[in-house]
Amino acid sequence: MTKHLPITVAEFEPLAEAAVEPAAWGYYAGGAGDERSIADSRAAWDRLRLRPRVLVDVENLDLSTTAFGTPLPHPIIVSPTASHDLAHPEAEVATARGAAAAGALMTLSTIASRTMEDVAAGAPGAPRWFQLYPPADREAARALVDRAVAAGYGAIAVTVDLPLPGNRERDARSGFSVSLGAHLPPDQPSDPTTGLVIMPTMTWDDLDWLRSICPIPLLAKGVLRADDAVRAVDAGCDGIWVSNHGGRQLDTAIAGADALPQIAGAVGDRAFLVVDGGVRRGIDVLKGLALGADLVAVGRPAIWGLAADGSSGVQRVLEILRDELRLAMALAGCPTLAEVTPDLIV
Ligand SMILES: Cc1cc2nc3c(=O)[nH]c(=O)nc-3n(C[C@H](O)[C@H](O)[C@H](O)COP(=O)(O)O)c2cc1C
Repeated sequence: MTKHLPITVAEFEPLAEAAVEPAAWGYYAGGAGDERSIADSRAAWDRLRLRPRVLVDVENLDLSTTAFGTPLPHPIIVSPTASHDLAHPEAEVATARGAAAAGALMTLSTIASRTMEDVAAGAPGAPRWFQLYPPADREAARALVDRAVAAGYGAIAVTVDLPLPGNRERDARSGFSVSLGAHLPPDQPSDPTTGLVIMPTMTWDDLDWLRSICPIPLLAKGVLRADDAVRAVDAGCDGIWVSNHGGRQLDTAIAGADALPQIAGAVGDRAFLVVDGGVRRGIDVLKGLALGADLVAVGRPAIWGLAADGSSGVQRVLEILRDELRLAMALAGCPTLAEVTPDLIV
């Protein structure tokens, strides 16, 4: 791979960039408009200051948790990101193997380059969720949910922040066009230039319908407002995934880290909470948990690991985050995740 093994997640980014075609790199790295939300998602974690506890016995640290009854060795998971074949020939199958090796739950995108069945078979028994861009045709949407359930995906994360794709200006400049992937029907509406999926008619009625046909836990992904979170939970969602879609939708939309406290205050006692956006350090994970998340997710870092070194790279990225979280918990005086509470944040 390289002369030295990366010891931070950030070191994987240039390795990945060197391994990926420039236009595909623009698609992975880029966001909407002036990319203010991308920068802010990173800065939001950095702005937060910690108030550590001292004189706590942290010899035995326990990072374990559960997600809808499934035990997980730690709370770091993989966000759904599209088209892993642009990063590595083994695509999402390699991502799934690497995540499984690191004990991290993986969320597979609807815009995956491998089928959900192949990805499941690539990492048998590993915990996994499926991210849904619901096709406008309800029977096609139902078929995707049924397939995910049959293939052992433990929850559906329905993405609610993409009526239209954001203005990805890097893609417009490079002429990059993404494929709809392995799951969507070919007549799914998509942007004619970039190929990106569009769902302009999706409303709360569709969420109600999805809830009615989805037999496994359902999370609404891409919620940034407490009133929307309340409405989604009232509609029967089991979880809220607080996210600005990696800064790829509405530029200057609030960072997940900044949106989380209000949402946790509104629905944290009755919904499972996930946060993502700009998480690059175990300390960011600690802060996400302290602000009320049950799980903290990473998108681009998994792609970086995949592009740099296949499944081993994915595994290493996630293990770095896990080990950084473990040390951060020790130094903050938190032997278990239950002790990672809001008072840790200044
Ligand atoms: C290249 C790329 C593709 C993505 N594809 C999807 C997708 O198919 N579905 C989805 O819900 N979110 C998608 N996202 C958003 C991620 O799930 C996640 O919210 C975001 O990447 C988190 O920010 P981070 O990359 O800074 O960790 C994508 C993000 C990136 C960077």
